[in-house]
Formats: sequence, C-alpha cells, structure tokens
Amino acid sequence: MSEQLEQLLAQLDEPVQVTVGALKGGVGKSTTAVHLALALAKCSPLPVMLVDADPVNASTFEWSEFAGDDWPSSVTVNYWPSANLAKRVRDSRHTGHVVIDTGPSDPAILRQALMVTDHLVVPVAPTPAEVSRIRPTLEAAAEVGFNRDISLNVLFTRVKPNTRSLREAREAMEEQGLHALATAVPFVLQYSQAFGTVPDDLGVYPTVLIETLERTRA
Ligand SMILES: Nc1ncnc2c1ncn2[C@@H]1O[C@H](COP(=O)(O)OP(=O)(O)OP(=O)(O)O)[C@@H](O)[C@H]1O
Ligand SMILES: [Mg+2]
Repeated sequence: MSEQLEQLLAQLDEPVQVTVGALKGGVGKSTTAVHLALALAKCSPLPVMLVDADPVNASTFEWSEFAGDDWPSSVTVNYWPSANLAKRVRDSRHTGHVVIDTGPSDPAILRQALMVTDHLVVPVAPTPAEVSRIRPTLEAAAEVGFNRDISLNVLFTRVKPNTRSLREAREAMEEQGLHALATAVPFVLQYSQAFGTVPDDLGVYPTVLIETLERTRA
C-alpha cells in the first residue's frame, strides 16, 4: 500500500494539505492526524508540517515529544491553537505537506484550519449518537467552503467488528449527502497503544490518504 501512496504523491502537482476535524471529543482526530502525517513522511520526500491546533489538549504535540528520537526529523510539529492559525501557517512559508489536528470545541479554529487546507477528514464512530453530532462540523466547513473548495471525507473510526452499525452509519451519511471513505479504522490496540510511538505499520491510514487524495484528482 505504501508503494501506491508513494506513486500517487509523486504524481501530485501540489503538496497535500489536510485538516482532521470534528467538533466532538475523543473521536480519533489526533490519532488520525499523526498517522496521516507519518504516512506522508514515509511515502514522500517533502517535509511535513503537523500542526496541533487543539487549545485544550496538546495531544498531538505531546505524542511527538514522547516519541523522542524516534520522531522523524522530516515532520515538524507546531503547537498553534491560535485564533490566527491560518496566518501562522501561511507565514511559515512551509512548502511541504500540512496536516492540522483541531480540537473538539472551537469552530473558529476549525474554520481557520480549513482556510489553509484542501481536504477535511472527519473521524466519526459509527454510532447513531456520533453520526447525529456531525452537524456543527459541517456548518463550520460550509462557512469556509463558501469561499474555497474543500473535499469533505467522513472517516469511520474505532469500528467494532461484526456490528451492523457501520452499514447503518454509512446510510445515514449518504442520506445527508456526505461522502464516507470506503476504508474504516477498526477499534484495535494497534491504534490505542500508538500514542507516543512512531509505528512501522501505519495500518489502514495510507489507504485512507490514498482514498482522500484520489477523490479530488481530475
Ligand atoms: N482505531 C482506534 N482503535 C482503538 N482506539 C483508538 C482508535 N483511534 C483512537 N483511539 C483511542 O481513542 C482515544 C481518543 O483518540 P484521539 O485522542 O485520537 O481522539 P481525539 O478526537 O483527538 O480526542 P480529543 O477530542 O480529546 O482531541 C485515545 O485513547 C486513542 O488512543
Ligand atoms: Mg485530539
């Protein structure tokens, strides 16, 4: 899968700019943002800027700190939970890939992130409660989407095996006209124990990235 992602990234004209956002706590945003950033670093020669924009928990930043020397030097992590996030990203003059992890509670920061990224990945657990709580995230995306194209991708995460709920959640997303990625992230220790590490095996996340990028290719 990594070779396929390598080829895809090599063909792109522009670096990848993705926000992982959901105005809901504990859905897997930080886990997703770190894995996507590590997948980009592994499969592309360009530098990666991973921005932790969560004003409450700096978990992405702490993840990279915990990893210590294992953390790849091609992935710079900035803790910018800032009302001026978009300006900070632009002013950084970073020319590589950008992944922004946003917090659960601040629509203004999510909007800022979307001003400087092309893709929004929205992690959601496939439960009726979480599916119904996606609306504030969509409203924030719609406000920015009025001015620029953003591809919105629902990512089902923490999916328990053998449940009917995934199919039902997909149907609920389709009914709302939303695109859910075909690949879902299972609820497994591989991801819950990844904090503070740089896993060799990035699980389904390279595929998540491929699907996200394939969607907007001409
Ligand atoms: N696929 C998964 N399988 C099992 N556990 C997971 C998975 N993804 C995330 N987790 C765990 O779920 C918890 C919440 O994940 P994470 O911190 O990534 O969510 P978050 O949306 O960033 O939370 P917050 O809103 O607090 O920032 C963490 O303990 C994490 O290890
Ligand atoms: Mg988080």
